[in-house]
Amino acid sequence: MDGAPDKKNSFLPFALPDIGEEEVQEVADSVRSGWLTTGWKTKQFEEQFSTFIGDGIYAVAVNSATAGLHLALEAAGIGPGDEVITTPYTFTATAEVIGYLGAAPVFADIDPLTLNIDCAKVEAVITSRSKAIIPVHFAGLACDMKPLLELARQYGLTVIEDAAHALPTTYDGNLIGSLDTDATVYSFYATKTLATGEGGMIVTRNRELAERCRVMRLHGISRDVFDRYTSTRPSWHYEVIAAGFKYNMTDIAASLGIHQLRKVPAFQQKRAQMANIYDECLAALPVILPPKPVPGDLHAWHLYVIRLTDDSPVSRDSCIAQMAEKGIGCSVHFIPLHLHPYWRDAYGFKPEDFPSALRAYQQAISLPIYTKMEAADQQRVIDALYEILQ
Ligand SMILES: Cc1ncc(COP(=O)(O)O)c(C=O)c1O
Repeated sequence: MDGAPDKKNSFLPFALPDIGEEEVQEVADSVRSGWLTTGWKTKQFEEQFSTFIGDGIYAVAVNSATAGLHLALEAAGIGPGDEVITTPYTFTATAEVIGYLGAAPVFADIDPLTLNIDCAKVEAVITSRSKAIIPVHFAGLACDMKPLLELARQYGLTVIEDAAHALPTTYDGNLIGSLDTDATVYSFYATKTLATGEGGMIVTRNRELAERCRVMRLHGISRDVFDRYTSTRPSWHYEVIAAGFKYNMTDIAASLGIHQLRKVPAFQQKRAQMANIYDECLAALPVILPPKPVPGDLHAWHLYVIRLTDDSPVSRDSCIAQMAEKGIGCSVHFIPLHLHPYWRDAYGFKPEDFPSALRAYQQAISLPIYTKMEAADQQRVIDALYEILQ
C-alpha cells in the first residue's frame, strides 16, 4: 500500500470538468475582492465570449441555459397561444421553457442518422400558431441549418438555437452562434465543454433582443447592479420596467468561464482525438458509431453516443450495468421527452409518436469523453466494451 490510487480499478466517471490553477486563482481573486455577484468579470466574460463567436455578436451571461432559453423566447415575444417546435430527443429544459411562457411545445421527430431534428418533420407540424423553432445541436453536431432557416423564413418563424452541447461547433465553416438565427444559447453546466458549475450565455446579433434579455435577467430592472455601484448616477435609483427574473451570472462563475473559454479550442481538439480513437477501435463491434460532421466542420464532442445494433449479444441496459460493474460510468442521452410521465400525460403522447427518437433511445449509450481522461482510461472503456459486446 503506497497510498497511490489504483487507477485500473478506480471508478471512471462519465464526465469531469477540466479546471486548472488559473481558474482557481481567478475564483479566489473574486472571493477576496468582495464582489461576488454580477460584476466586471461577468462583463469581461461576455466581451470575450462575443469576440470568440464573431463580429457583431452581443453576449448576455445568465445562470443556466434553461434561463437563457426562457429569456430568449420571452424577448422574441413568445406567449400564450403560440406553438414552438422542437425535438423530443433533448433534455427537458429545452421544452419546459416554452411552457413557462404559456406557449405549447410541439415535437418533430429526429433524423435517425444525425439524431438532430428532421426538417421535413418540422414542416409537417407547422400551423398558423407556430411562432418559433428550437433546434438542438445534439451531442455537439450541428443541425442542418440551411433548410431549417429556409423553412423559418418561409413561415416567418423565430429560430432560437439550443447550443447547450455545441461549443465550439461549426456549420458550413461558421461557429454556431454566428449564424443568421435570432439567438443561440449555451450551457456551462458542470459536465459541459466549458464548465462554470452552473451558467449559460445568450448570443445574438439583435441588439434589442440582447437588451431585453439583459433587463429581464435581473428582475426587469433598467440598470444592472454593477452599473448602479460604478456609475456616477445615484446608486440607490433604479426603475423596474417589466416583471423579470433572477437569472444573472455571478462573478464567481464568470471567473471560471474566462479561463475555460481560452481553452475551448484545445479542449475540442482533445475531444475530437478521443472520438477518433473510439471510432477506430469500436468499428468492429455491433454498434452504430456517432454521426460525423461534414469534412472541415467542427463537432464539439460534448457527448460520444454509440447505439447498439440488433446483433448485440446484450441489451443496452445490461451493457450499461456491466460497464458499471467494471467501474465505468456511462449514461443515456436522452430519454425522449414524450416518454416522461409529465410530457406523456400533459400531451397524451404514445411511445410510437416519435419512432426515430424512441429507437435511438433504446439503443443509445453515452461513453465517457472528457479532456482529463488519459489514454489508459479510454483503453479501459474500449476493452470493457469488447468483453461485453464481442
Ligand atoms: C440540450 C440541452 N438543453 C438545455 C440544457 C439545460 O442546460 P442548463 O443545465 O445550463 O440549464 C441541457 C442540459 O443538460 C441540455 O442538454
